[in-house]
Order: sequence, then structure tokens, then C-alpha cells
Amino acid sequence: MTLRLAEHNKDDRERRLAEIRQSLGSRSIVLIGLMGAGKTAVGRRLANWLDLPFIDADSEIEAAAAQSIKEIFAEHGEAYFREGERKVIARLLDGGPQVLATGGGAYMNPRTRAAIKARGISIWLKADLRVLLKRVGRRDHRPLLAVGDPEAVMKKLMAERGPIYAGADITVESRDVPHDVIVGAVADALAAELGCEAASGGSAKETPQRRKKVQ
Ligand code: S3P
Repeated sequence: MTLRLAEHNKDDRERRLAEIRQSLGSRSIVLIGLMGAGKTAVGRRLANWLDLPFIDADSEIEAAAAQSIKEIFAEHGEAYFREGERKVIARLLDGGPQVLATGGGAYMNPRTRAAIKARGISIWLKADLRVLLKRVGRRDHRPLLAVGDPEAVMKKLMAERGPIYAGADITVESRDVPHDVIVGAVADALAAELGCEAASGGSAKETPQRRKKVQ
């Protein structure tokens, strides 16, 4: 996709980012997608560009439980983790505007999806299997990938979750390129989604990621 933000001069870019921020009101920008999609890395940079707080839901869950996710899974099981995840995200969504990165399974919960719809703009960072496996291979803190073959697990999750993730307001391909390139694509898609016409050089309507106009 085109990277209009990268092409703009600094003033245009700042104006455009300010327009996104303003149109956002108190809503959160919520990043969803599989493990390794780049939600935290992209989210952190996007927050920096937009001068908004960045919140990582997994870290907040760990802080609330005073345990790592790995420990929560091991001691209490996945169902307990999921309920905690739902509650923490519901609370965090009251704190917008912000950029909120969620764990890969969070959006699968219908109540969490409804809460995000009500108080946020969802962005699916969609990555292919090769990219995801390359990224998750670097660390071993993810309980779902600790048992069995990571490739098989990831394929299964892609098949199960892909159709649900596809309901996000915005979809951006998370490719194996520098994170700032993806952040630029996300900002372009956000400008289009939010109807920042002037700031997008009048071409917001042409952005393929545009799904529906925010009311
Ligand atoms: C999970 C993804 C993880 C974390 C937990 C479960 C999942 O977050 O929430 O290990 O179900 O996909 P990341 O997507 O940030 O790795």
C-alpha cells in the first residue's frame, strides 16, 4: 500500500497526526492479531507518533495478577487467564484515548469484541505464517506455543481466529519490513477510517483498508 504519511513533509505529517488524534476523541486504537503480528512493537511506535499513551494489555494482566502470563496459565489454567484478560481490557478501554495492544486471544471473546467496538477502533495486524513464526521463535514466554509444534499451533490459530479478526474496523498487512513502515500504513488507514479527508490528501476513500466510516 502507499505510504502517504512518509511522503508528506513534516508539517503535513504533524497536521495529519493531529487530525487523527482529534477525530479519535476518547476512543482507543486497539491492535489485534496473532502472536508475533507486531502489536506491541507497532503499537508503541504508533503511540509515539500520535503522542498518545501506549498500553500493553498483557503487561497490565501480569501487573494485576502479580504473575507472568506463563505462571497464570500454569497455576490457574487458560480459562482463568481469559476471564482476567476480559476484565482488564474492559477496564483499560475506559482510559482512552490511547493505543492498546491486546494479546492474540483477546478479540476472540465476544464481550471483549463488543467493548472494543463501543469504545475503540480495532486494527488487525495481519501477518503470514512465515513472518509470525520468525518473530515468535525469538522468545519463549508464550504458553500456547510451549506445547507441541509451534507451526501446527499457529496454523490452527490462524484458521480459527482469522475469520473473527477479519471483523476489525481496519486490516493492515504486517510484513517483514521495518516497523515504521507498518506504522505509516496504520496511520494512513486510520486517517481514512476516521474521515480525515484534508489530512489524507483527499484520497482517504481510496484506501483499501477502509471498511466503514466511524459514526
Ligand atoms: C495469546 C497471546 C499472548 C498472550 C497469551 C495468549 C494468544 O499475547 O496473551 O500468551 O492466545 O494468542 P501476544 O499476542 O501479545 O503474544
